[in-house]
Amino acid sequence: MARFPKPAEGSWTEHYPGLGTGPVSYADSFTPEFFELEREAIFRRTWLHVGRVEQLARAGSYFTKEIAVARTSVVVVRDTDGKVRAFHNICRHRGNKLVWTDFPQQETSGVSRQMVCKYHGWRYGLDGACTFVQQESEFFDIDRAEYGLVPVHCDIWAGFIFINLGRVPEQSLRESLGPMVTAIEDYPFERLTHRYGFRSSVAANWKLMVDGLQEQYHAPIVHRNQRPENFDAHAAGFEAPHYQIEGPHRMFNSPGIRPWELPDDQIKPSERLVRGGLFGPWDPPDFFADTQVAGMRPGGHERVGVALFEIWPNFGIQLWERGWYHTYQHWPTSHDSHIFEWNMYFAPPRHASDLIAQEMTAVSLKEFALQDDSLIETIQLTLGSGGLTEFPLGDQEVLCRHLHKTADEWITEFKNRA
Ligand code: FES
Ligand SMILES: [Fe+2]
Repeated sequence: MARFPKPAEGSWTEHYPGLGTGPVSYADSFTPEFFELEREAIFRRTWLHVGRVEQLARAGSYFTKEIAVARTSVVVVRDTDGKVRAFHNICRHRGNKLVWTDFPQQETSGVSRQMVCKYHGWRYGLDGACTFVQQESEFFDIDRAEYGLVPVHCDIWAGFIFINLGRVPEQSLRESLGPMVTAIEDYPFERLTHRYGFRSSVAANWKLMVDGLQEQYHAPIVHRNQRPENFDAHAAGFEAPHYQIEGPHRMFNSPGIRPWELPDDQIKPSERLVRGGLFGPWDPPDFFADTQVAGMRPGGHERVGVALFEIWPNFGIQLWERGWYHTYQHWPTSHDSHIFEWNMYFAPPRHASDLIAQEMTAVSLKEFALQDDSLIETIQLTLGSGGLTEFPLGDQEVLCRHLHKTADEWITEFKNRA
């Protein structure tokens, strides 16, 4: 397969002149000072994806989200009126962490009609209202109405639940996502509810991991062992036909690999047997036949197998042409560590063979992601020396260039406010 043409302006990078073409500073990825600024300048200002509506299936369903970079924990609940609400996970009495199960640092989920503090037993309804104060008469005319949980701004787009920790969000969720991202809302997310997820602790800055996912030309090198000897990576089309940037968000298309079209000797026998693997289940769900979401291929290319949308700051949605998707999320824990979450979403399996194809996909992709994880950690090891701080980025690294420029701009703008 020939490489895809560059845009008329000369190159992907030059198509966005503000990005420049010189070496890029990675000081944003190894300095503790930059990370400290990211807390306020980025993570307490932006809409952050925290989960899917399917996690809150009924009234009283809840989950917690630990957001170390913002030094907070949030509890997200479905109220009896069906509304999804988010609160700071902190008791109004003396600040105990309100919702947790065995270990207070770990996220939890469940179903409950109320939230009860483990310290002195104050209780809160699903709307956050304080409903019970232990030994209330001893509290000097306390008015329970003034001691509800502290709400966090919460909104939903395409079934994805977002929160915003700002006092007043600078933009609505929809405004902040912008037209490039909202154009994929017709993808049938609500029908792809069979989820496989994993999370890993990565000893590297969160932006290095995003970089590792937003260009694909490393794949034939880093992931070479996940394919048979005679597999021709360029014939399979790793080169991306389209990159696009809009505000702080970015996306690319990849033609993907269609193993169902490859000769027998280019695909692993196990994947051929179960009709699924690294590039997903081969057979789309019934409802997905002929579905084409135009927003998935904004460049208008016919041959689009994959579309990755990197939603600022830390959430990625990757859509596949055969009716499944996965998400990435990066939760910073320090300047050189973060939690990486990866969730894969399929249609509920019609029969055992669907299930096996999905499981084959899940384990293959997990291996794929762990290869990225371990490689990214080696970058952090060398970056930490400070011996080299600037790096040349090629044209297929245009989205990496944009990520670091965006982070830098947000920090600079925040510092200028102060
Ligand atoms: S801190 Fe929660 S009831 Fe006392
Ligand atoms: Fe990779």
